[in-house]
Amino acid sequence: MNKIVNLKDLKKGSSLAFDHNGQKALLIKLSEKDVCAYVATCPHEGGTIEWDDDIKKILCECHLSLFNVADGSVYRHSSLFKLKKGLTKIELKLDENGNVFAL
Ligand code: FES
Repeated sequence: MNKIVNLKDLKKGSSLAFDHNGQKALLIKLSEKDVCAYVATCPHEGGTIEWDDDIKKILCECHLSLFNVADGSVYRHSSLFKLKKGLTKIELKLDENGNVFAL
């Protein structure tokens, strides 16, 4: 298990890019105790996703698709195409000290 960050070092509503087994990944801190992470590669053409805290969605700027933060499902397709699948979720583990690990 690789430690990504300690929760106290990440502001609520912010995100952190990290490496997960050689893949780009994105961790998002939704509340003081709630984090989630996804492979940061868009399922369309491999664009890099980012967290937009203003609209509470995950965005791929390449063709402006949006994904739900709860499960990585597609929230809004680009106007150019329909995505067949959402983001790949990364399982996380939190220890009693607030350290976040990717499984
Ligand atoms: S690469 Fe992400 S929407 Fe096209």
